[in-house]
This record gives sequence, C-alpha cells and structure tokens, in this order.
Amino acid sequence: MLVLGIESSCDECAAAIVGPGPKLLGQQVASQIPIHLPYGGVVPELASRDHVRKIIMVVEQALEQAGCSLEAIDGIGVTAGPGLIGSLLVGVTAAKALAWSLAKPLVGINHLEAHLHAIFLERPQFEYPHLGLIVSGGHTCLVRVDGIGKLHLISRTLDDAAGEAFDKVAKLLGLEYPGGVSIQRQGRSGNPAAISFPRPMPGKRLDFSFSGLKTSACVRVKKDGLPRGQALKDFAASFQEAIVDTLVKKTIMAARKERLTQILVAGGVAANIRLRDKMEAAAGQEEIEVAFPPISMCTDNAAMVAALSAAILKTGRDDGLALDACASMTI
Ligand code: KG4
Ligand code: ZN
Repeated sequence: MLVLGIESSCDECAAAIVGPGPKLLGQQVASQIPIHLPYGGVVPELASRDHVRKIIMVVEQALEQAGCSLEAIDGIGVTAGPGLIGSLLVGVTAAKALAWSLAKPLVGINHLEAHLHAIFLERPQFEYPHLGLIVSGGHTCLVRVDGIGKLHLISRTLDDAAGEAFDKVAKLLGLEYPGGVSIQRQGRSGNPAAISFPRPMPGKRLDFSFSGLKTSACVRVKKDGLPRGQALKDFAASFQEAIVDTLVKKTIMAARKERLTQILVAGGVAANIRLRDKMEAAAGQEEIEVAFPPISMCTDNAAMVAALSAAILKTGRDDGLALDACASMTI
C-alpha cells in the first residue's frame, strides 16, 4: 500500500510517501523559517498564505522522490488538528481534493499522535504500551499509549508549552527563531549551573507549568540587562537545564506511576540533545528504555503523518469528504 501524507498544521508545509513497513519512500518539507524570522514567531496569516503557494509543489516533489505517480497512491492521510486553523485548512482541502479526484480513501490525523508515531519509521517493532512525552511548540503532555487511537492523557502543561518557553525566552535574548535551536546552540559552551532558574512545580503533580520560569528569565534580564558573550551562553545553558530537568523528572515519575518500562519522547523539543542525554541517564537508573525518533523526524514533517495514516487506512477507515480541520483537537 502506498500512502500520501500531508502536514500543514503550523509553519511547515510537507508531503511524504510511505510504502509497506512503514518505509519512507519520499518526503519534502518546505520550511517557512525565513518568513517568520523577522517576527520572532509564527504569524498565522503568513503561514497559511505560504501553504497555499507551496502545497501542490511539495506533493509533486515527494512523489518524484518516491518515483511514483499520483495514480499509484492507495490512500491519503492529512493532519486535521490541532494547529492553526488557516494552516490546517490548506492541507485538509488539498487532501480532500486529491482523494476525490483519485477516488481514494482519506483519513484525518491527530498531529500529536503523528509525532509519537514517527518512531515506527525507524523501529517498526517498537511495542505498546509505552509512555509518550509530547513536547513541542504548542504542546507539552504525557500520554499513556496502548495502541493506535488508544491514547490516554495523563498530564499536560497548565500554561506555556516547553517549546513556547524556549521560543519566547530566545526572542527576549535577541536570539533567532526557532528559539529551542538557538538556546541549545548558545548553551553548548555555557555552564548549566550558572543560574538557578526555578524548576516549575517540582512536587508530586504530573502537570507542567513553564510560565513562571519564563517570567523568572524576564525578571533577570530586566534587572541585569541583556546577557552577552559568556554570560549569554551561561544563561541559555541554565534556562535549558531548568526545562530539561522538569521534563525528565515528571516523565520518570509518570512512568513509575503507570508501571511502564518504555518511554517515547516526540515533538520538536525532542530534538534537544541535553533532553536526550538526561532522559536516557535518568531512565537507565530505573531500568526504563527511552526511544526518540530520529532528530529529522522530531520537528513537523509529513513522514510521521503518512506512517500513521497507513496504519489507520489498513483498518478500512475512510473519513471521506466530510473530514474537517479542528484547531483544538485533543488526545
Ligand atoms: O513539533 P514542532 O516542529 O511544531 C509544533 O508542533 O509545535 O516543534 C517546534 C518547537 C519550537 O518551539 C522549537 O523551538 C522547538 O520545537 N525545538 C527545539 C529544538 N528544535 C526545535 N527545542 C529545543 N531544542 C531543540 N534542538
Ligand atoms: Zn508538531
């Protein structure tokens, strides 16, 4: 079965083709980083307009890379939510038009579940149940994953997502968007113990909260001025450490509570090297296995959407033309 996946929930316009396995045969991601760079964050209207310009091109490029024609596709999957409504509508509308013209089945995908499913492109035998930590620009949550479509929310952020905290503090520091990447780069040669930022909600609760940490960073900049040189590196390393420590601590706590021995970390922030290292070290002590999708599959892409779509299409589901985008889709 050949499946076309389409992703346009935020600022990446992407298409991918997967074959049985799931095996990735071709993929294209048109990033909008240069468009949003001057604003220090995603501008929804600019994002959806650019998706309209690029969507057909990325589908054609993914097909070309896979060496297959549009007519050879057996089914289509598209991110239907959560995300920016204008951005989502571009992908959903394109997918519906293709499904109708080709008379092929169509499924709408939850973006968060797709992030988790990215692991199966590298490790098709990865087992259920596992604990999923989804950590991205829009979401930070822990879920128990018992199978496809069997996700149970354990906890989530009560305010900002971890990626959002990275992006906002990077902007405050005058660093480039996306902030997580810039803070990681600056922090590489910084001292993570230089500043003791608060570890948000360190108690027994599994919910996350990052707005207090963000405020603490703002207050420090207001008081001491913008850090430069080595001070900037120390600031970035210390801020990153506070986010990483909180994510690691709550994830291990949840794994223990749910008696799960496998953790899967997914979403854009899962590309963070410090998070990968510290999560692996902490889990190792508990004899818990940790898996991360390849770094290139952590940030938004269509390969994860195509892989999840293939698994769902196999069950015979077809959402048809009634499919609609849902900006606030939950788990
Ligand atoms: O999953 P994603 O591409 O989009 C959403 O679904 O939100 O995640 C984007 C987020 C941004 O906040 C970005 O700053 C963060 O992931 N990010 C990182 C890294 N790479 C991307 N955060 C920390 N370290 C990284 N290496
Ligand atoms: Zn995402």
